[in-house]
Amino acid sequence: MRTQVGIIGAGPAGLLLSRLLQLRGIDTVVLENRSRAYVEARIRAGILEQHTVTTLIDAGVGDRLQREGMPHDGVHLQYPGTRHHLDFAQLCGRNVWLYGQSEVVKDLIAAQLDDGPPLLFDVSDVSPEDVDGDAPRIRFTDAEGRAQVLECDVVVGADGFHGVSRPVVTAGTSGRTWERTYPYAWLGILADVAPSSDELVYAWHPDGFALLSMRSPTVSRLYLQVDPTEKIEDWSDDRIWDGLSTRFALDGWELQTGPVTEKSILPMRSFVSAPMRRGRLFLAGDAAHIVPPTGAKGLNLAVADVTLLATALTRLVQEQRTDLVDSYSDRALARVWRCTHFSWWMTSMLHRSGDDFDAELQLSQLRRVCSSEAAARELAENYTGLPVDA
Ligand code: APR
Ligand code: PHB
Repeated sequence: MRTQVGIIGAGPAGLLLSRLLQLRGIDTVVLENRSRAYVEARIRAGILEQHTVTTLIDAGVGDRLQREGMPHDGVHLQYPGTRHHLDFAQLCGRNVWLYGQSEVVKDLIAAQLDDGPPLLFDVSDVSPEDVDGDAPRIRFTDAEGRAQVLECDVVVGADGFHGVSRPVVTAGTSGRTWERTYPYAWLGILADVAPSSDELVYAWHPDGFALLSMRSPTVSRLYLQVDPTEKIEDWSDDRIWDGLSTRFALDGWELQTGPVTEKSILPMRSFVSAPMRRGRLFLAGDAAHIVPPTGAKGLNLAVADVTLLATALTRLVQEQRTDLVDSYSDRALARVWRCTHFSWWMTSMLHRSGDDFDAELQLSQLRRVCSSEAAARELAENYTGLPVDA
């Protein structure tokens, strides 16, 4: 087999990159080691920045997003006694959209399987080779168990945090990684109940952080800060709703409860690996960086990476010009660090560490964001996403 760009991983990063390159006349093959059903069912975050929405619409995969997605002009920030609305549209002229990442992935897969470039599920033993030369290849075993070789001009590792690509980059470059594991986790639920708020509520509470989000007019998504050692079996639905009701409590407002259809505990970490390239192997998305979910940046960073990469690879493959691939890692990492800081900042402001000095600093910061237009605008600009200059 031969292609111009061999892409490892059919998450949002790999699938969108394949789509963007197809629109520019560049051949790709996407290799995914899971099944289509597994990839489509994975529940992830759901906030799309304006840039992400525009990119998906311009790439011709935004029809259902525009029909079923929910534009949100702001969020609510809460601490005991106060629920304050931040109006992003007024603060910075941008908004965000609520649309599940699993829906984005379904739309991209449907477009790709409908006459798009090859997308192979259920492959195994995926291994990028000879990435330092001009003719790299990917060895893998296909779904029928046959050994295959995909010859490429370029390989892209969009294979997430546990993928095979980052170790290859790290082994061949004098790069480094940075990591922070937070002493918190999120217990997340999906529930068949209409969202109790029109827009998201990020709540600080002495018992810990809580977030009210949604997936549709009839499905709520809610999160509760828990200790990372907690076991999901110890959290009955009643215990979860009690915790949520306490943390969101506000005079004159009530949290609506309903049947819980999914629940799980998610660890929280920040991770950055640099550089995002070794020779003809480029990393994009979670393969190179992880952010805690508080800033809702994971998917949006993956989209920003592949936006840069699509332009850079087009220039390389069609014009043999290396300027944009040479600067890809630095340009992507500048945005990665901005979002890493914002996600860390949101996480630090909203989660209870158990230390009362920390708590007073957090409340002071929350009051500042809720009373100073400059402080609110800083949050709004970061949350809705800074422009991507590709
Ligand atoms: N071979 C082929 N595919 C692989 C391999 C491998 N060895 N290892 C992992 N994969 C696949 C995974 O099964 C997954 O489908 O790569 C894909 C990576 O997708 P994501 O983890 O969704 O990562 P990415 O596309 O970068 O999207 C980032 O996902 O984790 C969230 O919060 C994150 O929203 C962000 C987004
Ligand atoms: C979600 O809807 O899953 C969600 C929303 C906002 C976040 C994180 C997750 O910050």
